[in-house]
Amino acid sequence: MQNFEQFLLENLPTSKSIHPHYEDALQNMLKAGGKRFRPALLLGVVNAYNPLMLDSARYAAYAIELLHTYSLIHDDLPAMDDSPLRRGNPTLHVVFDEVTAILVGDALNTYSFEVLSNAPFSDETRVKLIRELARNGGLNGMVLGQAIDCYFENRPLQIEDIKILHTNKTAKLIAASLKMGAIIVGREDVAQKLYNFGIDLGLLFQIQDDILDVTQSSQEAGKLTHNDEDKNSFVTILGFERAMQEANALAQRLLQEMDNFDESLQSELSPLLTKYINRHK
Ligand code: IPE
Ligand code: IPE
Ligand code: MG
Ligand code: MG
Ligand code: MG
Repeated sequence: MQNFEQFLLENLPTSKSIHPHYEDALQNMLKAGGKRFRPALLLGVVNAYNPLMLDSARYAAYAIELLHTYSLIHDDLPAMDDSPLRRGNPTLHVVFDEVTAILVGDALNTYSFEVLSNAPFSDETRVKLIRELARNGGLNGMVLGQAIDCYFENRPLQIEDIKILHTNKTAKLIAASLKMGAIIVGREDVAQKLYNFGIDLGLLFQIQDDILDVTQSSQEAGKLTHNDEDKNSFVTILGFERAMQEANALAQRLLQEMDNFDESLQSELSPLLTKYINRHK
C-alpha cells in the first residue's frame, strides 16, 4: 500500500483560491490516514488477475477512498454522530467549522468521480466504474444507509432491518471495491461473485466496528468510541455476546466462501482477510 499512499499524496485535491484554509481542509482527513481497506481490496483483485494494471487501478482505488473519506467527514458532523475525533485527529468541524466540513465532504464526493473520469481506462470501463461507485456510495447505498441509521436513532429495529442498514451504509461500498477491481481487469465473470462476498465482508466489517465501539478507547480507535448507545448497532440491539457470535459465524463463512475463488485471488486476499476478519477479537 506504500505506492497507494504516494499516489494519494501526489493527487491530493488542491484549490488555488482566496479562501484562507479551504485547501488545508480538503487535504486534512485524507492525509490523516486510515486503514485504506477499500483501496487494498480493489488493488488486491487487480494484482491477482493483472498486476500490469496496478498503476491505472490506483485511480479507482483513490476514488473510492475519496468517497469514503467524504462519508466519514459528514458522519462526524454535529447533525449526524457529532464526533470530535477521526483518524486520530480532531474532526474538520472542530478544527475549522461546520460549513467547511460540509463543503469539504461535498468536494471530495464530486472529486472522486472526477478522478475516475480521468483514469486511464477505456470509456466503457470508466462508465462502468463510475456507475458502480455511484450506485453503491450514493442514494441507494451508503447515503441510504446513513439516512436509516440517523432516522432510527433511539428507535430500535429488528435484526433483519439492521442488516439492511449495515449493508447499505457500509457493505455496499466494500463490495463495490472488490467488484471495481474485477471490472478493471475485465473479469466480469467473477465480478458478481466478488460483490456478494464483499457484502458479507462489509457486514462483518460493520459488526466489528460496532463491537470495537464498546471494546476500544477513543485513543485506540482514533475516533470517538462508546458513541453507539442510541444507534441500531449490533451490540446495542443484540448485546455484546450475541454480536460476537454473529461476527464469528460470519468470519467463518467468509473463510469458506474464499475457497470458491481462483487460487491467485485467494493468495492475494488471504493476508488482507486474515488481518481484518478477526479484528473484533
Ligand atoms: C469507518 O470505516 C466507517 C465504517 C464504515 C465502519 P473505516 O474503519 O474503514 O475507517 P478508516 O478509513 O480506517 O478511517
Ligand atoms: C458510518 O458508520 C459508516 C459510514 C458510512 C461513514 P459509523 O458511524 O459506525 O462509523 P464510525 O464508527 O463513526 O467510523
Ligand atoms: Mg454513523
Ligand atoms: Mg460515526
Ligand atoms: Mg462505528
